[in-house]
Amino acid sequence: MNRYLNEANEIFEYSLELRRDFHMHPELGFQEVRTAGIVSRELYSLGLEVTTGVAETGVVAMIEGAQPGPVALLRFDMDALPIQEETGAEYASQNPGVMHACGHDGHTAIGLTVARLLHAHRQELKGTIKLVFQPAEEGLGGAKRMIHEGVLDNPRPDLALALHVWNDKPLGWVGITPGPVMAAGESVRIVVIGKGGHGAMPHLAVDPLLAASQIVVGLQSIVARNVSPLKTAVVTIGAVHGGEAFNVIPPTVELKGTIRTFDPEVRALVLERFEQIVERIAEAFNCQAKIEASFLTPAVVNDSTITSRMQTLVGQVLPESTLDTEERTMGSEDMAYILQDVPGCFMFIGSANAEKQLNAPHHHPRFDFDERVLPRAAALMAAAAVGSLSVHAN
Ligand code: NI
Repeated sequence: MNRYLNEANEIFEYSLELRRDFHMHPELGFQEVRTAGIVSRELYSLGLEVTTGVAETGVVAMIEGAQPGPVALLRFDMDALPIQEETGAEYASQNPGVMHACGHDGHTAIGLTVARLLHAHRQELKGTIKLVFQPAEEGLGGAKRMIHEGVLDNPRPDLALALHVWNDKPLGWVGITPGPVMAAGESVRIVVIGKGGHGAMPHLAVDPLLAASQIVVGLQSIVARNVSPLKTAVVTIGAVHGGEAFNVIPPTVELKGTIRTFDPEVRALVLERFEQIVERIAEAFNCQAKIEASFLTPAVVNDSTITSRMQTLVGQVLPESTLDTEERTMGSEDMAYILQDVPGCFMFIGSANAEKQLNAPHHHPRFDFDERVLPRAAALMAAAAVGSLSVHAN
């Protein structure tokens, strides 16, 4: 299995050039026109059957193995974030206000590298590889839209794999965990409605700011006092908007936040308590509250059998690496939608290098990673695809 790493290392320049090119020309969700153009050009050049324009800018390609067998879907996301880059890298974003700050430039380059590796090995493949280059992972629902447009049909995948470069951990670390690994997320918006008035005559107004302040504090009791200490949940209010003047009580205040959970029962409990606390505190302060909660993604849940196979594979493909079987994060990922329908595994691969200061967190203006992760990730993914096809076939 080591040969995949050797082969990926041999075409490191290819991966590197692609990654830097994507990094210099980042595109937001559903606008990945240039990126998708390069992706389809590279896939066509291998002689693959390519479908473009799936969910606007998504690209799907098939690698048919020489022998029949199951179908493995490999997913790579392509979108960037609305962030002004501050890395100062020579390959920094040339698109003002847009940046690959999550590593999806790397994922796209890894996907094309995997396509080359697997294409070279198609004589040994027992089944079909479905390569999926997904748009709009960052909260815009790209995966859901691709599913809606049939990415899980014709042929239907038997398993699905994806990975994420992971700057929380150094190069050489690999995280493959069974069960839930990334959280279900909702975005919530609350409008507290009172009655505006003069700041010096509060008794003639109904102050929504005071109610909103109590709501922010009250909501923290959900995790502290309602969720079991052995379970996981996050309730964050990240935005408070209300009022303009020092001497005016505003008529309304808006709060925005997010809820993250792993377990559907915990999620239901948190949402129920959220509504009760918001509504009753508002009522206690003579205000009204309107709540809008929108579900972003379910939890990313790894299939235990496929995950344990992937864990075994790491030692063979990347023998120098450290395998962590307990990595979980409260971040969200829309690979969750694919894994709801198809069993599979979402893997993390360490990409930070503190000595080279390539260790800023994901979604940070100075985010960048050690590019030596590219061949490692491509080798892992290629071996994972080949390995899971042959095991699944038996
Ligand atoms: Ni990401």
